[in-house]
Amino acid sequence: MEKQIKPHITTNISLIGFMGSGKTSTGKILADKLNFLFIDLDNIIELSLNMPISEIFEKHGEEYFRKTETISIKKIYINKNCVFACGGGVVVRHENMEIIKKNSTIIFLHVSPEIACQRLKNENNRPLLKVPNRLNSITELMEKRDHLYRNACDFIVDTDIKNPKEAADEILQRL
Ligand code: S3P
Repeated sequence: MEKQIKPHITTNISLIGFMGSGKTSTGKILADKLNFLFIDLDNIIELSLNMPISEIFEKHGEEYFRKTETISIKKIYINKNCVFACGGGVVVRHENMEIIKKNSTIIFLHVSPEIACQRLKNENNRPLLKVPNRLNSITELMEKRDHLYRNACDFIVDTDIKNPKEAADEILQRL
């Protein structure tokens, strides 16, 4: 049965969190249950530049990717009734978070470095993971970003022991 949206959920939901936290899988389920449109920000960036994320980083570098990410956020957050899966790095730009906060309820999907590393073991479209010691890099990057995710969000869902369906159910209960 479709969930009746509570009256205060009038705009959008944004899922933030590290790579491997399940933003895309959880977001799709959530959007389906709320009858919202699901939008993956990385997909929007890939479509706008017509190349995969890995190629954007390779050809133009991370700074160019971040600029494109901000441009995409400015364009896409004019929509309503959407569930957005944000790239893991959106929190590093204050400008991004101002727009996202103003236009959505933000949920931080938390994942531990070990579980993220395990979930991402076959990954090859995430340039930041093309490093010799993945677990170390994930741990360091997560430490740098953790406070940003926590400060930006309305609430946190721990995904280490939850699959995307369970995470989506918890979000629906807490909205
Ligand atoms: C990034 C996360 C990726 C993607 C890019 C950079 C990051 O998104 O935006 O590879 O800085 O953490 P996901 O979190 O959806 O994998």
